[in-house]
Amino acid sequence: MKIDWDNLGFSYMKTPFRYVSRWKDGKWDEGALTEENTITLHEGSSALHYGQQCFEGLKAYRRKDGGINLFRTDQNSQRMNRSAARLMMPAIPEDKFIDAVKQVVLANEEFVPPYESGGTLYLRPLLIGVGEGIGVKPAPEYIFTVFCMPVGAYFKGGLTPTNFVVSDYDRAAPFGTGAVKVGGNYAASLQPGHEAHEKNFSDCIYLDPATHTKIEEVGSANFFGITKDGKFITPVSPSILPSITKYSLLYLAKERLGLVAEESDVRLDELDKFSEAGACGTAAVISPIGGIQNKDDFHVFYSETEVGPVTQQLYKELTGIQFGDVEAPEGWIIKVS
Ligand code: PLP
Ligand code: COI
Repeated sequence: MKIDWDNLGFSYMKTPFRYVSRWKDGKWDEGALTEENTITLHEGSSALHYGQQCFEGLKAYRRKDGGINLFRTDQNSQRMNRSAARLMMPAIPEDKFIDAVKQVVLANEEFVPPYESGGTLYLRPLLIGVGEGIGVKPAPEYIFTVFCMPVGAYFKGGLTPTNFVVSDYDRAAPFGTGAVKVGGNYAASLQPGHEAHEKNFSDCIYLDPATHTKIEEVGSANFFGITKDGKFITPVSPSILPSITKYSLLYLAKERLGLVAEESDVRLDELDKFSEAGACGTAAVISPIGGIQNKDDFHVFYSETEVGPVTQQLYKELTGIQFGDVEAPEGWIIKVS
């Protein structure tokens, strides 16, 4: 198969191998690679009825020397276990998770896009509750799988800013499941996301569900802003997904760019204090936000067409580390090959 590496979007592509492991009678089996990309489930599986499932998203990066890097995979493993615990699913030992990811990358190595093509190999770990059941209770069995595909930019602009719209809907409740990566949060975001796309916005911006006065996050990424006095600010809330990219940027803004970097409230009526804004996440990487539509008000940050200087510096530092061109903080990179 010939792949146009420079023009990959974010869509499913079948790659040859995925990893599957099953949990039954209190333990995980060994797990193995398979070429089968469908799963047969019992009709009573709790993942189907009650959303007992969670997932992760991470990427493998081709280095200049041809080798392959993974970025902060331990953090994905730990977050998946927090998600699993919230929905009463069994934990996946960190070494099993990382080994599964490595096996999938190596088995599909030819699908890791070339260095500087703009593409990466996206990995999707998934944990689902399966087996006989009908009452609202945890499943008797679980399937953990990791599959992968080459991807390009998630938001069509890449490093060109795009616009976002403030949603009237909530994706998660204050003490609900917003902080874990479970499918239900994304099901709740489908209608708002569709309405945003219909109006030509890249995605929604959700507000804090209790007061609707503060920015929480984007449907598929966290939010950050750079204040006019040069601080990196990202919202703090119990109902947003703790983004691994966001925590990496908080560290890099402070330690590498010398900025004050903190999590704090981002009030909708104080957007004027920001000179730049962006969405950050594994799929989104760093996607500059041109403007935000809130009811009749359209607020432009740096520019609708150009990326701001701090956002650009952060992008260079982050992706430099991921692709192995910039020295990584201790423990951030696993070399798969
Ligand atoms: N917020 C949401 C709702 C997401 O789906 C994602 C993607 O994983 C993120 C934030 C970013 O998290 P991370 O940087 O760990 O990929
Ligand atoms: C990711 O960034 O990995 C995500 O999961 C975001 C989106 C594709 C749901």
